[in-house]
Amino acid sequence: SRPTYKEPYRPQYHFSPHHNWTNDPNGLVYYKGEYHLFYQYNPMGNTWGHMSWAHAVSKDLLHWQPLALAIPEDEKNMIFSGSCVVDKNNSSGFAQKPGQIPLIAVYTAHIIPDKSKPDDYMQTQHIAYSLDDGSTWTKYSGNPVLDLHKKDFRDPKVFWYERGKKWIMVTVLPNEHIVQFHGSPDLKTWTHLSDFGPAGDVSGIWECPDLLQVPVDGHTGKGKWVLMNSQQFTMQYFVGEFDGTVFHNENPADTILRPDYGPDFYAGITYNNLPAGQDPVLIGWANNWKYAQAIPTSPWRSAMSLPRSLQLKKTGNTWTLLQHPVKALKNLRGAVVEWKNKSTSSELVFPAKGQVLELDAELIPATAGNCGIRLAADDGLGIIISYNAATQQLSIDRSKTGNIHFDNQFAAVTSATARVPLQAGKLSLHAFLDKSILEVYANDGATVLTTQLFPAANLDGIVFFSEEGTTKILSTRVWALKSIWQ
Ligand code: FRU
Repeated sequence: SRPTYKEPYRPQYHFSPHHNWTNDPNGLVYYKGEYHLFYQYNPMGNTWGHMSWAHAVSKDLLHWQPLALAIPEDEKNMIFSGSCVVDKNNSSGFAQKPGQIPLIAVYTAHIIPDKSKPDDYMQTQHIAYSLDDGSTWTKYSGNPVLDLHKKDFRDPKVFWYERGKKWIMVTVLPNEHIVQFHGSPDLKTWTHLSDFGPAGDVSGIWECPDLLQVPVDGHTGKGKWVLMNSQQFTMQYFVGEFDGTVFHNENPADTILRPDYGPDFYAGITYNNLPAGQDPVLIGWANNWKYAQAIPTSPWRSAMSLPRSLQLKKTGNTWTLLQHPVKALKNLRGAVVEWKNKSTSSELVFPAKGQVLELDAELIPATAGNCGIRLAADDGLGIIISYNAATQQLSIDRSKTGNIHFDNQFAAVTSATARVPLQAGKLSLHAFLDKSILEVYANDGATVLTTQLFPAANLDGIVFFSEEGTTKILSTRVWALKSIWQ
């Protein structure tokens, strides 16, 4: 029977486990009409520990069917983050009869030889295989498949590199701020190809790398190569070329670009094996290690971001990712309330309410001061999405969302800011509020900010504001979104 998923703060269209802790999405792979979502999971509790791979599948990237635990921790090691591939030609040799196609999970084994010394760990890369389309998994008896005798060496993203007819594994050396590339004919033996980094933002340890081809906006075909990584406590990406051995960044070396500028988007990776013609799809963990284990939800903790389709756009000398929530989200739309040609030089209350909604607005911001939208608003509270035309900064401020003191690190990270130049004098905001998660896509998905908030259930107003001049609200549409859990 379907669980209710009606707890306070429970996201209604973002994936979260029914109970217990999750962090990174893992093993994103499309196979036989299903999108698989594996994820870091604690089968024993609601904080980090006993890390294993849990599993859910979906036909539309939104309605998820929870499945049995896929890869449990074992006596010697926890199962850390990694990826899944479809071994179409049985290069691994795991198939047991002709025509059988193994799915292979490649993950980091986090090995603690002596439980009384949890800091004396080792990380090596392991594989497991499934011969029943992902239902059950067997750990390979020849593990590890890659061991550098390093303490920190993790988060393998593996994909098939068609031009060179080989598997590529992308990993990180977190403390060195290095992404490593290894190649293999069979997923079992790996050869070092090259290193990338340190580069970009090296303020925190690097984790969860990904390398993929992203089509250029308005074009079909493979496009440019995007290398991304998480680095505590956010993410960054580079755009350029990969020749099968080396990644060359073509974006300006001094420009740091982020898939998400909010505080709560981490460990994002993309799908393997998508049908030809489908744009890459990115899912991240909508939380932040600073306060992740203290967020006030029970009996689960943490959710995944919306799945986002990716394209690239070049402006000047810089390639920028454009992100859009997957199109299937439109199927969740319920009643719409629409506004056209309004303006305000103080406040205007929008004639709809809700905490589970999609909002699409086009504004001509006042030339001075802040203007924007408050969501989950009432009684002087609310999360503030504000734009300042003078500084071209878009900010999200959650300091007045009510429940922020459960952790002083959360209370300290109250706002996030990104530079968003107007397009033809207009600011477009596409926002998704889902109880405790707000994702804002600005200017056609060129800038995205994801933020958690824990507002009381009765905070559900939508208020437009303009603090110093007149802001024109050219259009606004707000849809109530249906729950995926019904
Ligand atoms: C990122 C991360 C990964 C690691 C996993 C462990 O959030 O720290 O580097 O594999 O979480 O759960």
